[in-house]
Amino acid sequence: MIIAANLKTNFTRAQTSKYVDEVEKFLQTNNICEDVFVFPAASSLNTHNGKITLGAQNAYATKNGAFTGEIGLDHLDEFGIKTILIGHSERRHILGETQKMIAEKFHFYKEQGFRIVYCIGESLEVREAGNDVMMEFLSSQLEGIDLEYEKLILAYEPVWAIGTGLTPTLEDITSLHLQLKKKCSAPLLYGGSVKVTNAKEVLALDGVDGILVGSAALYAEHFCTMCEYAHNLDK
Ligand code: 13P
Repeated sequence: MIIAANLKTNFTRAQTSKYVDEVEKFLQTNNICEDVFVFPAASSLNTHNGKITLGAQNAYATKNGAFTGEIGLDHLDEFGIKTILIGHSERRHILGETQKMIAEKFHFYKEQGFRIVYCIGESLEVREAGNDVMMEFLSSQLEGIDLEYEKLILAYEPVWAIGTGLTPTLEDITSLHLQLKKKCSAPLLYGGSVKVTNAKEVLALDGVDGILVGSAALYAEHFCTMCEYAHNLDK
């Protein structure tokens, strides 16, 4: 299974290093061989040899150049980073990334052979409009994305569940994941208010291949427990 921590705009370089060391030590000691990803802030990227794979939360679709405030492929190459998050709702809604920009970014990093964790998710308004509208909306977030790409991991993160403590019901997550699986056979993660208290049951659901965790992953101990849950699940 895949267990991923999106650290967002949290932790300095020193704090990230301590965090990664702590989680790595836990994975080694407990012989956990799930796919564990940690996505630190850009300024905390580093080389890492171990069970954890470090990935970028974002990068511009360029090797380098005049894109003030952005990092590019060269900056990821320096640390051997070959994994990237694309399409996160915070980048779509707060930073204004359009589907066109997201698809371009996807295409660029696909060409570079990156593992891409590609996020989609609907607002509460869309969800309340019913299943058909919701599926249509989610399909629009897949426009321009190569769903056959062998290094694609899909993450379903309902916007209204991110950082709110709210989650869809387990039945809703299963139903949605099984519908998405019909569109794309890539591993599919659930994200949005996953915590130690609900991770085990979410991980056990049909159609769920892992979790993408934000706030709760900031506690190394909690994130380690979630990795252990995945490890202990016979899935
Ligand atoms: P929370 O776990 O804080 O809801 O965030 C989820 C998320 O956005 C992971 O990418």
